[in-house]
Amino acid sequence: MAARLLDGTRIAADIRAELTSRVENCTQQAQRPPTLGILLVGDNPASQVYVNTKSRVGDALGVNVDVVRLPATITLDAAQDVVHRFNCSAAHDGILVQSPLPSSLGPIAEQRLFEVIDPAKDVDGFHPTNVGRLAQGRALFAPCTPSAILELLDRSCINLEGRRAVVIGRSQIVGKPVALMLLHRHATVTVCHSRTRDLPALARDADILVAALGRPAFVTPEFVKPGATVIDVGINRLVDSSIVRALLPVGSPRLETFARRGSLLIGDVHPAVAETAGALTPVPGGVGPMTVAMLMVNTVRAAEKRLEAAV
Ligand code: GUN
Repeated sequence: MAARLLDGTRIAADIRAELTSRVENCTQQAQRPPTLGILLVGDNPASQVYVNTKSRVGDALGVNVDVVRLPATITLDAAQDVVHRFNCSAAHDGILVQSPLPSSLGPIAEQRLFEVIDPAKDVDGFHPTNVGRLAQGRALFAPCTPSAILELLDRSCINLEGRRAVVIGRSQIVGKPVALMLLHRHATVTVCHSRTRDLPALARDADILVAALGRPAFVTPEFVKPGATVIDVGINRLVDSSIVRALLPVGSPRLETFARRGSLLIGDVHPAVAETAGALTPVPGGVGPMTVAMLMVNTVRAAEKRLEAAV
């Protein structure tokens, strides 16, 4: 039987609707909208799309998204200056440095930029203070994709307590923080990665399987216990028609989408998993829209905290 689809697009719309009155209150009190400063360095096409989406969603909600774009040739010092400017600005409530940064900035540039963000404006939750607080279960701001996953599970009434969760991927942005957040919710958590032995068998133990490794269609039905909940964090753009045809059954409407657009978004989970899983997030329309909604939640919370601190 086909899995229940966990509709991130619909749930994200609910979350944005719930935020509207909070945005209005903040705007009225501060005499300006809640404001998110984004630093985007270089011309990574996926990052451009993500940042444009954040701006569009912010605009529709009444949240001001102020994007500073710098070329990949910029120095780390110049990039840090932008973050300092956002830190000192009375008009910016939240700050986000879009990842990944160009490799020309050096291997630890991302960490160097995250650690100069004021933790009270760190709506991405990547400052070491917030990472440490997350580990202790008292984050000021939790990272947006892991928050999106937890919110999606909660609003889909999927119980976590005492259940086995397997996370494939150990990134700072998704794998590690989502493992901590599942643990805080009393799941029994295993984190797997590229050197894990017998990954399919470990994954098959999961009641809740989170695929966040960035490899298209990597998680095949042999990784999935029948009836498990599968959360697909991957967003991979495929342009090779032979690969797309090998992944999708003949007659799939998604083949028409590919023919029309010349590319197709595929998650880290193989489409055939829909026949084994009990519940599954679609790509697109699952975790992606939820992540942007949770960024807005964190930005509004940052604005509210600043207003509370001002009285
Ligand atoms: N790149 C992909 N996901 C994210 C995210 O959640 N935050 C930032 N800053 N960059 C990203």
